[in-house]
Formats: sequence, structure tokens, C-alpha cells
Amino acid sequence: MIHETIITTLNADGSTHIAPMGLRHEDGLYLIAPFKPSTTLDNLLRTRQAVVNLTDDVTVFAGCLTGRHDWPCRPAEVVEGRVLEAALAHVELQVDRIEEDENRPRFYCRPVHHGNHAPFAGFNRAQAAVIEAAILVSRLSMLPDEKIDSEMAYLQIAVDKTAGDRERRAWEWLVERIRRYRSERKTEAAQS
Ligand SMILES: Cc1cc2nc3c(=O)[nH]c(=O)nc-3n(C[C@H](O)[C@H](O)[C@H](O)COP(=O)(O)O)c2cc1C
Repeated sequence: MIHETIITTLNADGSTHIAPMGLRHEDGLYLIAPFKPSTTLDNLLRTRQAVVNLTDDVTVFAGCLTGRHDWPCRPAEVVEGRVLEAALAHVELQVDRIEEDENRPRFYCRPVHHGNHAPFAGFNRAQAAVIEAAILVSRLSMLPDEKIDSEMAYLQIAVDKTAGDRERRAWEWLVERIRRYRSERKTEAAQS
């Protein structure tokens, strides 16, 4: 099973790097698998620490995919790291072992601290739709336009029916990102 989370790691200059990442569990360990190249990967290799943030604030997911990387954080309790203010819960991780891979190394991490901050409010379809749309946006260059358009049209139904302000804002950022990607691609094609 994969849970979609926000992973925070520390950059070499001490600033915080925030990225959406899928997380798996294996034998009591947390498994993070960043594709190469990635800042999260570099930071995990250098610091061997990370924080997993479990949040229902989908503006963080959509924001990271649309150039909005600065989200309020506070210091972690045990590791050298930061906790997202929007986290309902967080887990602080120490890298236990690394399985090298040409494309996607696997970091097996041991939990060293758990924090619970706010209750889970229940499932919301618009939040799930924003997560799906964020995945589509992360694969814009790999997927045909028709697939993106048909999936976005379907996901829009849940947004229209069940979104709150946060979900609507996150959705608009992603729709705008798709529009801008296509317009830039058109300009580049005209120039070449
Ligand atoms: C819900 C969601 C889950 C994601 N999971 C992963 C993942 O497991 N591994 C990965 O490399 N990128 C994943 N991505 C894409 C990264 O968040 C994105 O490419 C990001 O820029 C990672 O690179 P960075 O560490 O350089 O920021 C995911 C994106 C979304 C929206």
C-alpha cells in the first residue's frame, strides 16, 4: 500500500526542501523511493534523515507541483529537520539502509519519533481528485494530452461537488499549470 505524503528534508544550506512522495511500509520500516535526479534524493543521501508529513491540505501537494515551495514549518523533535505546520501527524525518520538503483533508489527508514497534531476529518473526494491531478501534472511530458484532458474532466466532477476553498485553489493551480505547459510547448515548437 502506498500513502501520498509530504516529505521534508534539509538542504545543504539548512533550508527546508518540501516534496510530495509516495510512502510504503515494509517490516516496520518506511520506504521512500525518489526518482533520479531529485533534491530529496540528494538530501537523504547527505543527511540520512527526513520527516514524513501526513496532511489533508492539498494546496501543499498542488503548490509543490506548481512552483510554490515555501510552506510554514517548525523544527522537528528528534531529527535535524522540519515539520510542516499543516501536518495532521508526522513521523521523523532515520535512514537505515539504501538499496541502490539506476533510476529509483530505495531508502529504508526507521521511525524515531511520531507526532499527532489534529484529527483526520474523513475522506473528501475533491482532495483525492487534487492528488490525482497533481500526479498527472508531475507526468505532463510523459502522457498524451487526450489522456490528461479526459482524466481532468472526470476529476472535475468531484471538485465541483465536494471541494472547499483549499481544494478549489489547489485545483486551479494545477489547471493553470497544464495550460501554461501547453502554451510554452507551442511557443518552443514555433521557434524550432
Ligand atoms: C502525490 C504525489 C506523489 C509523488 N510520489 C513521488 C515518489 O514517490 N517519488 C518521486 O521521485 N517523485 C514523486 N512525486 C513527484 C515529486 O513530488 C516531484 O517530482 C518532486 O519534484 C520531487 O523532486 P525533488 O525532490 O527534486 O523536489 C510525487 C508527486 C505527487 C503529486
